[in-house]
Amino acid sequence: MKKISATYVLPVAVIALTGLAACGEDTARTEQASMSERPLVIAHRGASGYLPEHTLEAYALAVEQGADFIEPDLVITKDGVLIARHENELSDTTDAAQKFPDRKTTKTIDGREVEGWFSEDFTLDEIKTLRANERVPFRDQSNNGRFEIPTFAEVLALRARLSSESGRTVGIYPETKHPSYFAGLDMPLEEPLLRALEDADLNRADAPVFIQSFEVTNLMKLNALTEVPLIQLIGGSADHEIEAMGFDGIASYADGIGPAKGLIIPMDREGRTGPPSDLVERAHAAGLLVHPYTFRPEPEFLPAQYGGDAAAELCAFAALGIDGLFTDATDIALKAFSESCPMAVRSTP
Ligand code: G3P
Ligand code: CA
Repeated sequence: MKKISATYVLPVAVIALTGLAACGEDTARTEQASMSERPLVIAHRGASGYLPEHTLEAYALAVEQGADFIEPDLVITKDGVLIARHENELSDTTDAAQKFPDRKTTKTIDGREVEGWFSEDFTLDEIKTLRANERVPFRDQSNNGRFEIPTFAEVLALRARLSSESGRTVGIYPETKHPSYFAGLDMPLEEPLLRALEDADLNRADAPVFIQSFEVTNLMKLNALTEVPLIQLIGGSADHEIEAMGFDGIASYADGIGPAKGLIIPMDREGRTGPPSDLVERAHAAGLLVHPYTFRPEPEFLPAQYGGDAAAELCAFAALGIDGLFTDATDIALKAFSESCPMAVRSTP
């Protein structure tokens, strides 16, 4: 671990709250209660449970709901502009197939053959003719075709404006998507990402920023180029590179981990959860923050064990001392931490 500002470094800080309570007419006693700080709430792809993901409208709604951070995933255009999309294949979340039918092609991305429409084949002007669609079939489809695909610079400008209007600092939590693939095309993501942060005065250790990636090489490169805190994402299936490195190895170039939530509370195929692992404890022992993903409230995503009660899942993870979490429903997470398992508000970012 290297560079996290003090506000981020308290994994499960306990705050003592002192109150005076009257117990009958002649007695008064001081009660001391302790309350853990709630995890940071990171709006995964914006308020993606409510509006098409990775649109300015979805990020703005997440901020309105109280998100501590908004999370853009980043890919790049033919003319070298970072845009917010979960993958460079565009047809799952835009109308690229309808507007550019002849651009369909097949590529090998991270060892997998993918057919579709790719960000790196479109100029920004072309991207700006596209409109976002809802990815998840059982979520609201009524906003399909309404919203633009934003550039990273536009997301940063929105963050600055909403921070100023709301009177609280909203953080930004960008993820580089397919960085090795793009580096192989001579279109590296790291430099444009850092330039954009620099332009927004956010390329510094104490900025309200985390940069995340599933790729180790990408994060090691970033570690040499920036003081911004870095988060190593860890997927749900075995990753030999990460396993070989261990948490002490990760702590040599990153400040935290973003594990799939099943690595903390495992779940079987029937949606039954098992006993928690010791991942949070071990990561904390190595000095790493722990920000699991992704918390979604719908029954289709929620482990059956919780009987449709999204707050129960959120509170189970919070009780294990996680430092933050990615969620599609910021409002539900904040409500859980204020009503279902009340926790102290984190004084960040
Ligand atoms: O960034 C944390 C989490 O979002 C990683 O998963 O696939 O939604 O980007 P993904
Ligand atoms: Ca992400």
